[in-house]
This record gives sequence, structure tokens and C-alpha cells, in this order.
Amino acid sequence: MLQMKRTKIIDVLKGELVGQTICVKGWVRTRRGNKAVSFIALNDGSTIHNLQIVADNERFSSELMSTISTGASLCVVGQLVSSQGAGQSVEIQAERIEVLGTADPESYPLQKKGHSLEFLREIAHLRPRTNTFGAIYRIRHQMSIAIHTYFHERGFVYFHAPIITGSDCEGAGQMFQVTTLPLEKPPLCEDGGLDYAQDFFARPTALTVSGQLEGEMAAMALGAIYTFGPTFRAENSNTPRHLAEFWMIEPEVAFIEIEENMDLAEDFIKHCVQWALDYCADDIKFLSEHFDKELIDRLNFVLEKPFKRLTYTECIEILEAAVAKGRKFEFPIYWGADMSSEHERYLVEEHFCTPVIVTDYPKEIKSFYMKLNEDGKTVRGMDVLFPKIGEIIGGSERESDYDKLRQRAEEMGVPDKDIWWYMDSRRYGTAPHAGFGLGFERLLLFVTGMTNIRDVIPFPRTPRNAEF
Ligand code: 4AD
Ligand code: MG
Repeated sequence: MLQMKRTKIIDVLKGELVGQTICVKGWVRTRRGNKAVSFIALNDGSTIHNLQIVADNERFSSELMSTISTGASLCVVGQLVSSQGAGQSVEIQAERIEVLGTADPESYPLQKKGHSLEFLREIAHLRPRTNTFGAIYRIRHQMSIAIHTYFHERGFVYFHAPIITGSDCEGAGQMFQVTTLPLEKPPLCEDGGLDYAQDFFARPTALTVSGQLEGEMAAMALGAIYTFGPTFRAENSNTPRHLAEFWMIEPEVAFIEIEENMDLAEDFIKHCVQWALDYCADDIKFLSEHFDKELIDRLNFVLEKPFKRLTYTECIEILEAAVAKGRKFEFPIYWGADMSSEHERYLVEEHFCTPVIVTDYPKEIKSFYMKLNEDGKTVRGMDVLFPKIGEIIGGSERESDYDKLRQRAEEMGVPDKDIWWYMDSRRYGTAPHAGFGLGFERLLLFVTGMTNIRDVIPFPRTPRNAEF
């Protein structure tokens, strides 16, 4: 029986195989029925939709039927017929059923529908079996393909930046150290500090916070590249938008300045949203019905409107005017302050009612590599702010002048021994260039309508949590 070729449920539901005897395999979602007949909803992950299996109880031993419960895996052979019942167009009249694996109803945790997302996080190893997480992981896959397709079709080279690195790109000191030194009794130097000469790499190393610095080296040779990989931040922020391990997409392009960088960011993100609507319609419809009725409207809305572009200074003026009119914010806002997500969301959701690109931030609150403006106070950074999310993209035109970059690195306390190689790109054939980083899970929050970032990555890593 197992030898018969399996048809995926997504293909079965197209209805073209009616009349044929087919074989399907999957996991039982629900089982109901009466003395004479059982209706089994089978799901194999190929689609959000289940296939109905109709089994005449007298055809099968009661021993077999008693093991068919929610969560069990089955192989079913039977004729595909048009369904008389409501809710499905086709169903299988089971001729043979094999239980591949039982799921004890006493202990299988996904018995009934409607478990809370919090509960499902505690069983992240089983949550792919729910409709919600099946949908999310299929969308996550589709968005990966959308991203690779976008850059590939435009001649960008997919570049693999290292995960273990010796430099702190963002300079925020939020790195996870990588070491093989024995923590209980590490070797020490004469001055009492750790003796890194004895460490695996004979130097301090950490998990990367961003592939940008290495990506720039590639862009300054290949013209246009993008990275797409995991990045790590040991920031102790327990928010619905921060992960300690998240995936980032970082395009980097030679010979462009900030305007073209903004054009790229806007076009890219619209492509991704359009892709979600085109290729994830069933899953998005499900998520919209169950979690967020406005999801599809919001996706279309982002596609229709040009993003509003303005400077940080203009943003502060708007926010200060709002405060003057009585709008309350948790954190104070003034020129020089880093906008927090409540400020960003005010601009996007209340003031402009459209995605926003903010440029020209005070140099003190941005990284050392951003191009300094002529005012000497602001840098050519750009953040893309989205409804419900806040910052979804951070990027900039890069400082391409060796001396200015040297000075910025010194001011920001970035040691030359860590970035001597990065500085070389400004010594040999430097050129204007720019890029940005899109947080993959923030994009997924937007296209799925989920509100907690822990629910759009399979096994979330957050402070005090690395189960599984
Ligand atoms: O703004 P960030 O820190 O920028 C960079 O890392 C640059 N090196 C990117 C570049 O120019 N190539 O991070 C970029 C994006 C943010 O806008 C956000 O979407 C996401 O990465 N991000 C996070 N996502 C989840 N959890 C976190 N802790 C995140 N930190 C940043
Ligand atoms: Mg940022």
C-alpha cells in the first residue's frame, strides 16, 4: 500500500482526479461521524485546506478505527468522488487505511481548536501542525522566494557574509560572544584579562549583528549584492518586535546615493507584499479571518500609495507639534532623541496614514559608517516605517571618504584593528554606495498580520528563552 504514489492534497483539491483511485498521506485534524460512517479531515501541509476522508465503519476493523484520532498520521487509498456535503467539493471514499503513527488522545496537546498563541509557543515543536502556523510557515517560505526572485531578476549577487565575525557593525555592543575557552577557568594574561591568544580564533569573536560590512566589500567589486541570513543581537528587549536571532536581507549597491536607495527599498518591499497577495492568498485569507480583518486592506493600501519621504528634523517638528496639542507619549521627544516605536507609529498611523521613509538622522544616534551631511550634524541614514510595525528597514548611503570615515569611527569608538579591512575599500577605488537591511520577521509580521514576532519564526530566541 505504501508503494502507491502519493498525491498531495493541494493537487487532490483541484478536483481533476475525480473518479480515480488515489493515495494520500497526512495527519488527522478532526474526526467525527456516527455508527455507520466516519469523516476524517486530513491535512498534509501542502495547503491550509483539509481533505475529507469518508470511511464506512463496517469496512474496517474497530481496532484500526479506534487508533484514528487527532494527530495520527495516515495513508489512505480510495476513490476520489464529488462530495455531497457542504464545505468541500471532493472527498475520498476510503478503501484502505493504514495508521502510520498513532497520537494518544490522552497526551496529544493539540486536541481542540482555538489554543492561544501563548500556549502554542510552549509547544513550538508541534505548532506547525495547526492551521495558523502551517499558514505562517508557508508564507515565510514564499517570502523567501519573493526576495531571492526580486534580486536575482535584477542582477544582484546573493552574497554569503560570515556568521562568526570579529567586528561589531552596528557598534551597539550587543554581540553574542563565540569562544571555546573554558568558562569555569579561562586562561588569563598577566594583566588579568582573558588570554584570547588561546581561544579558537586567537582573537575575540562573536555572532554577527549584520552582514553589511562584508557585503559592502562585495558590492565594491560585484556592483550589487544582497545577503539573506541569520543575524544575532543580545539586546535585552522583551518586546513583540525584537528577537535575539532574526533573519535579515541586506542589499548593497555601488554607484547609488540615498535617493536610489529609497527607491530600491520601496520597490522591493512592494514587490514582496504583492507576492504575498499573489502566492499566499489562501493562507492570508485564513489569517485575516482569524486574527486581523483589516489585513488584506492594509496590504493593498501599502501597494497603492507612494511612501512619504521626510527628514528626521521634520519628524521631530511634527511630533513636537502633536505634543503641544496634547498628544501624550510615554517617552520624551526632542531633536537628538532616538524615536521610539510609539513616535514612529504616530507618524505612520495617525499623521501621514501611509508608510514613511525618514532620512538625515543626528549622527550621534546612528552607526559610524553612514555618510555625513554637509551640515556636519546629520547623516544620510534612512528608516522605513510601517503601520503596526514601526521600523521595518534601516539603511543609509555609506561614507565613502576615507578621512571622514576614519574620523567617524574614532568618534564612535570603533577600533581600527577590527575594521582595517573595511577601511581599505575607501583607500582603493572608493565610490558612492548605499544599502539597507530589512528585518525578515518584521516583514512577516506585516504580511501575516500577527502581532508578536515570536509567532513568525519557527523557534524564537528571546531573552531567557532558547527551548527546542
Ligand atoms: O536598523 P538595523 O540595526 O540596521 C542594520 O543592521 C544595518 N547594518 C542594515 C544595513 O544598512 N545593511 O537593522 C535592520 C533591520 C531593522 O530595520 C529591523 O527590521 C530588523 O533589522 N531588526 C530586528 N528584527 C528583529 N529583532 C531584532 N532584534 C532586530 N533588530 C533589527
Ligand atoms: Mg535601525
